[in-house]
Amino acid sequence: MEKHFKKERTLIVIKPDGVQRSLIGEIIKRFEQVGLKLSAIKMLVPEEDFVEKHYTLDPKWRLLTGEKTIKGYVDKGLEPPSQDPLEISQKILNNLKKYVTSGPVIAMVWEGAHSVKIVRKLVGGTEPLTSDVGTIRGDYVLDSYQMGDVDGRSVRNLIHASGTIEEAEIEIKHWFSENELVDYRLIQEQILYDVNLDGILE
Ligand code: CDP
Ligand code: MG
Repeated sequence: MEKHFKKERTLIVIKPDGVQRSLIGEIIKRFEQVGLKLSAIKMLVPEEDFVEKHYTLDPKWRLLTGEKTIKGYVDKGLEPPSQDPLEISQKILNNLKKYVTSGPVIAMVWEGAHSVKIVRKLVGGTEPLTSDVGTIRGDYVLDSYQMGDVDGRSVRNLIHASGTIEEAEIEIKHWFSENELVDYRLIQEQILYDVNLDGILE
């Protein structure tokens, strides 16, 4: 049988700026409020190799991230720093290694129906300048691709969240061992997922 929707898991990392901005509680609150279940959590200071591996687990990441960045410029009528997506993403990766290793991060696994998409919706688009209002990146930070490029640094956007179910599965394995993932029942899952809502009325 296919795994039930409610078993879908996603990886979230509160990046060093999220920790330094004292937003750990605020960020966790959003995922709790929507009904997701925390399956694993830890604080660590990642190494550069670990960060490079994390971003290149998906072989398409270099191309897609370069292309997305170029589109971000073009959509605003601006000239991208290069027309070559791979050149752009190599710089992004070098900057990310500095950014994500600059201090402690909080790594978490959250479980629940459509968790990957739900979390991406709550986190908002990559570039805070255009992330929707109401999203974490839209509400709590104000960076842009342009600012990052001019200063030769990463776009600071508080969080990493897996982009697809497949990405989530490999990223969770990269950050957590099997015995760090806790399987348990959360009482609220009954009201979220049970077919029959009996047992509420006395
Ligand atoms: O994090 P997300 O999946 O939204 O974006 P990504 O395209 O996978 O890029 C990973 C991270 O690289 C972003 O969250 C930014 O911190 C950084 N980045 C950047 O500094 N400059 C860019 N032009 C694009 C991404
Ligand atoms: Mg990504």
